[in-house]
Amino acid sequence: MILIKLGGSIITNKQRPLTASVSTIKQIAVHLKKIKEPYMIVHGGGSFGHYWSVKYGMHTKPARYSIRGVSVVKNSMVELNNIVLQAFLQSNLDPYCLPPTDFIFENEPVVKKVKEILKISNTGLIPISYGDVMWFGRNKFYILSGDKIMGMLTRILKPRLAIFVTNVDGVYSNIKTKKLIREITTQRPTISNVKMDVTGGMNRKIIEAIEMSKSGTDVFFVNGNTPQRIINAINGKEFEGTIFRG
Ligand code: IPE
Repeated sequence: MILIKLGGSIITNKQRPLTASVSTIKQIAVHLKKIKEPYMIVHGGGSFGHYWSVKYGMHTKPARYSIRGVSVVKNSMVELNNIVLQAFLQSNLDPYCLPPTDFIFENEPVVKKVKEILKISNTGLIPISYGDVMWFGRNKFYILSGDKIMGMLTRILKPRLAIFVTNVDGVYSNIKTKKLIREITTQRPTISNVKMDVTGGMNRKIIEAIEMSKSGTDVFFVNGNTPQRIINAINGKEFEGTIFRG
């Protein structure tokens, strides 16, 4: 199985609130049709979920956030998810919406439910989950990032590989010179974040990727503006991007 995270930076315009990059999503979907093995998609919040989370001061830490904020963030993610689902359907793929509430209780994955995802993807359906605002209990909610979901799924499903698709070529050793790191073993380079991000931006992804590769999965970072790179990574061909070797 393969896990693919479509980052908010590639499926939305992070500089423009509530703006999805529909043509980019469709272009990626068309390329995903070439994948010949079961896979699952997780997508981020970009200028939908992050935009409202910032407005209402909501974070990854469980707390008693504004109830209006919870409602608005949740709805924005359902809206973005629907845009992704529609783009997949129109590209002749068979997406299956799987909100994280379907397999996460409080802030822990429900192992039995997660294992069923593998069976769902074996039917040819493409399970699609997303970062979300989650009920934690005792009137608390928290923002769950898609990156965290990727980590949880990897620990349980042990996919062959996990791919983080963003709007940059991979992990840069220097953000100014854009020098790409081809392979990362254990070091943790620091990358500057986009301001709008409440779940930790690139640093969070790198920390998650290192943990995921430790459990044996190869983790790739590729630029979704050139979607063929996703396919090349999957097929073991030379590709432009960063590998965290499992
Ligand atoms: C964020 O998910 C979800 C919400 C803000 C509700 P991610 O943290 O995975 O989103 P991106 O990929 O960084 O935009």
